[in-house]
Amino acid sequence: MIGRLNHVGIATPSIKRAAALYRDLLGAEAIGEPFDLPAQGVRVCFVNTPNSQIELLEPLGPDSPIARFLAKDPGGGQHHLCFEVPDVDIAAADLHAKGARVLGEPRIGAHGTRVIFVHPRDMGGVLIELMEPPAAH
Ligand code: CO
Repeated sequence: MIGRLNHVGIATPSIKRAAALYRDLLGAEAIGEPFDLPAQGVRVCFVNTPNSQIELLEPLGPDSPIARFLAKDPGGGQHHLCFEVPDVDIAAADLHAKGARVLGEPRIGAHGTRVIFVHPRDMGGVLIELMEPPAAH
């Protein structure tokens, strides 16, 4: 069952410039240090908001899924929504049983916990990430 909105993923050609928008235009103060997630082909930076996070995603190379997104939308834009679920294996089995496509196998996401992605064509055009919350959450 769907849990808390953990973060909104935003594709950007420049984490530095995107983070500056959230800081300078919207007053975000809690902006994390960017870090690389080579297995996903992305550099990630979290902007903390009072009730959620923005996950800024910059491509690490030309094969990155974010590079493909930026090929269509060079300025970047909303990439995915991420909701928490207690167990991604159970969520994936449930989605399969209901006829929705899950992209690939569970993998380790930017919070260091297991995540899956649901095909946007089965979710009204929105890429959905489901993640197991960190233990301390
Ligand atoms: Co995400």
